[in-house]
Amino acid sequence: MSGDQARRVQAQFGASAGAYVASATHAGGDDLERLLGWGRALRPARVLDVATGGGHTALAFAAVARRVVAFDLTEPMLRAARELVRGRGAHNIGFVAGDVEALPFREAAFDVVTCRIAPHHFGDVGAAVRQIARALRPGGSFLLQDILGHDDPEAATFITEVERRRDPSHVRAYRTVEWKAFLRGAGLTVIDDAVIRKVRVWDDWTGRMRMTAEALRDLERFVRQAPDRCRAAFAFTIRDAAIESFTDRMLLLRADRD
Ligand SMILES: C[S@@+](CC[C@H](N)C(=O)[O-])C[C@H]1O[C@@H](n2cnc3c(N)ncnc32)[C@H](O)[C@@H]1O
Repeated sequence: MSGDQARRVQAQFGASAGAYVASATHAGGDDLERLLGWGRALRPARVLDVATGGGHTALAFAAVARRVVAFDLTEPMLRAARELVRGRGAHNIGFVAGDVEALPFREAAFDVVTCRIAPHHFGDVGAAVRQIARALRPGGSFLLQDILGHDDPEAATFITEVERRRDPSHVRAYRTVEWKAFLRGAGLTVIDDAVIRKVRVWDDWTGRMRMTAEALRDLERFVRQAPDRCRAAFAFTIRDAAIESFTDRMLLLRADRD
């Protein structure tokens, strides 16, 4: 990943680590349950959770695996995640700092790799997926969740602008066809997939990234002035000119190493 993108990620998430640990959106939901359902059936011994953020996915998988490694680029995030999991009594999670595009693990070290709500921050998703595939044993499973890219280019451009105004480390969300190409290119075969809607409560979502009052006002104006069909594509709800929420579709994929 370029130094600039790494610095953007670390600046955004370093300042917001506590908010991500506290975030109900990240702490659970149908999406995490679905990933965990796949994980439970696989009965893995060794799990790597890439871009662990506040540590919620690592914590969930610690209940179904012998050992979990929580991995993230942002050290304050890892410290906050460590505090969360120790507080919950999970003692089978280790913490490693680094970039997914250069995973510091030997080939075939893990039975399962998880990565939830994070690849839209990666500078080179193809490189990240190749690293993940290398870290998996043959037959091992990559369990992925990320924001699904929209098929309508105008709606996709609109939401990418909304995301980047809130968080400059957002790169973009990918469509299913793009994900399948990344996975295939890394020697991973899709076994199962699902799409789950996740409602973003506006004040909670914007508040987590500590925007200035001016940047928030500009973003809200941008949303209100966007074409109706762009807002409709993400089910924006607006009451008395106040934005209340919008809805993301999350793509979940299980892909196994050949
Ligand atoms: C939204 S959080 C992830 C949420 C978490 N996976 C969960 O389930 O709650 C995004 C995380 O991706 C991490 N990240 C972004 N780019 C990364 C990279 N290239 N390598 C490793 N971690 C990265 C950030 O530091 C941040 O902690």
